[in-house]
Amino acid sequence: DKVVLAYSGGLDTSIIVPWLKENYDLEVIAVCVNVGQEDEMEDVRKKAIESGASKIYIENVAEEFVKDYAFKGLKAGAVYEENYLLGTAFARPLIAKKLVEVAHKEGAKYICHGCTGKGNDQVRFEVGIASIDPAIKIIAPWREWDIKSREDAIDYAESKGIELSVTKEKIYSRDQNLWHISHEGGDIEFLENEHKDDLYMMVKSLEDAKDEAEYVEIGFESGTPISVNGEKLSAANLLIKLNEIAGEHGVGIVDIVENRLVGMKSRGIYETPGGTVLYAAIKELESICLDKETQAFKKNMGQKYGELVYNGLWFTPLKDGMDAFIDSVSAVVTGTIKLKLYKGNIKVAGRISPNALYDEGISSFGASDLYDHHDAEGFIKLFSLPSKIRAMKG
Ligand code: ARG
Ligand code: SIN
Repeated sequence: DKVVLAYSGGLDTSIIVPWLKENYDLEVIAVCVNVGQEDEMEDVRKKAIESGASKIYIENVAEEFVKDYAFKGLKAGAVYEENYLLGTAFARPLIAKKLVEVAHKEGAKYICHGCTGKGNDQVRFEVGIASIDPAIKIIAPWREWDIKSREDAIDYAESKGIELSVTKEKIYSRDQNLWHISHEGGDIEFLENEHKDDLYMMVKSLEDAKDEAEYVEIGFESGTPISVNGEKLSAANLLIKLNEIAGEHGVGIVDIVENRLVGMKSRGIYETPGGTVLYAAIKELESICLDKETQAFKKNMGQKYGELVYNGLWFTPLKDGMDAFIDSVSAVVTGTIKLKLYKGNIKVAGRISPNALYDEGISSFGASDLYDHHDAEGFIKLFSLPSKIRAMKG
């Protein structure tokens, strides 16, 4: 029998290969889903085979990831606990989908992943896989084996004769894709510690950020970003460009304590440079294109959507239903937002939309045909009626 292994090339997933052969007697098919992490894919391929995998699939899905996952979340305004822009959570369902595709192609009954038994990712992978093919059996070595530390893992690798090209000390548990990079563990686990700026991989520290401000113009069509500074770009290229620009200005860092689905709190540092700029821009555009009630309802839904994504419930009817609502109300969210970036800050510098509900003729302090100051008198009388009655009775 065969097992499909979610493979990254790191130490953890490398030792899983001999472990699976030893403990399950399965042929290992490695799958590396490339969602824009900056690993050398040829090295990953080599390592998988050297560790004993019989085959490796490298799935390049960066464009699909940004277009159909991250930008869907952006359009929905999905945020977890006000601050986390869900970089890891957006990628997991797509990775799950690709793992199942390969399992079907290879006729494999099992899928194996290298997530620990304490985190969110195990849930996201397994819920994702179960939603697509409930017959697939999951193997999660971290919930089974005695390997408890990196040292144990290195010992195990050596005993199996696996060459470890990376013996460099691993300080943080990281997860990278085009949308973000996360850092957890190490000194960050102690809440009294300020995080060290030298952990950043996508964003400059405030001290090292450019000394000159920079303007960036983002074009949207129906709630989806389509251009940067007037240049039309594919989803992945647009995000790569914004990551560069925002990263240079120290934009997109959050340091948070979040509530994991499995019950515990955990501290994380996230770098989401392009994503942070996009969330700021779409919020401005919505503020001029959506009416008050739709805007408020959509904002609540973004929070719900964020929880759903965080909890791994991407492939659900509730998520599909929310997408239908969001697509409908976002049809008018078209236009251009100009932002000024400087030392970690984002200042809005211009809002342009053919669908703007804002009208300076109506909103300005002068007289207009649509709004007669005298009408306000009757309105206030009715609006204040409940207050008046309460005061009279009290
Ligand atoms: N805490 C974040 C989340 O749950 C990041 C998880 C990072 N995952 C990892 N395997 N390093 O989305
Ligand atoms: C893990 O535990 O494998 C990574 C962190 C998480 O899933 O939350």
